[in-house]
Amino acid sequence: MGENRYLTFALTKGRLAKQTLALLERVGITCEEINDPDTRRLIFVNEELKLRFFLAKGPDVPTYVEYGAADIGIVGKDTILEEHRKIYEVLDLGFGRCRMCVCGPQAAEDYLKSQERIRVATKYPNIAKDYFYNQRNQTVEIIKLNGSIELAPIVGLSEVIVDIVETGSTLRENGLVVLEEICPLSARVTVNPVSMRMENERITRILQLMSGAIDGSV
Ligand code: PRP
Repeated sequence: MGENRYLTFALTKGRLAKQTLALLERVGITCEEINDPDTRRLIFVNEELKLRFFLAKGPDVPTYVEYGAADIGIVGKDTILEEHRKIYEVLDLGFGRCRMCVCGPQAAEDYLKSQERIRVATKYPNIAKDYFYNQRNQTVEIIKLNGSIELAPIVGLSEVIVDIVETGSTLRENGLVVLEEICPLSARVTVNPVSMRMENERITRILQLMSGAIDGSV
């Protein structure tokens, strides 16, 4: 019965999708048209393997997976932590490595030491709240932004930010530093819990292939 059903992948648009498709290609899972930059199609099919792929914004990937609209989702650990969806995280793909950090001007270190009621700008309010309230026991004001977070302490919107640091060059170019590290991040494979039971054999096989390709490439 499971033989005829399509397994659907939700991929995070952008660099993660490119790296995921490259990894899938190495294990013989291909999907031609998805790499065409001019296409307006939203969904791509591999008829032979009965697989479907679509691209979505990062924060939407866990939503598709929780509701079962995608069986498998590839998304950053940051988004998994932020979205709190009922999904299984089953594999660390090892790429997209970066760190979630508290950053700011060097002088802001004192506000952290003295547990002051500072303002924290971030695209990740849940991660920031959890870190400051539950781990640091510091009461802060969280200000949600949607991008260019580094601007906030520069223009006086907040004392610090909680954001992703990869190479550190955005911080350096704006006179900011990492004050504290919250956690390491990378791309993860997530699975819908019902799909995991109903399509266990096919999904396990795909996960084995993917993890084999990661080990082989390091
Ligand atoms: C991310 C993040 C930092 C930057 C970190 O932003 O929010 O700004 O990358 O990378 P770096 O340490 O290598 O400089 P992104 O470019 O995704 O865009 P955004 O500002 O819209 O969030």
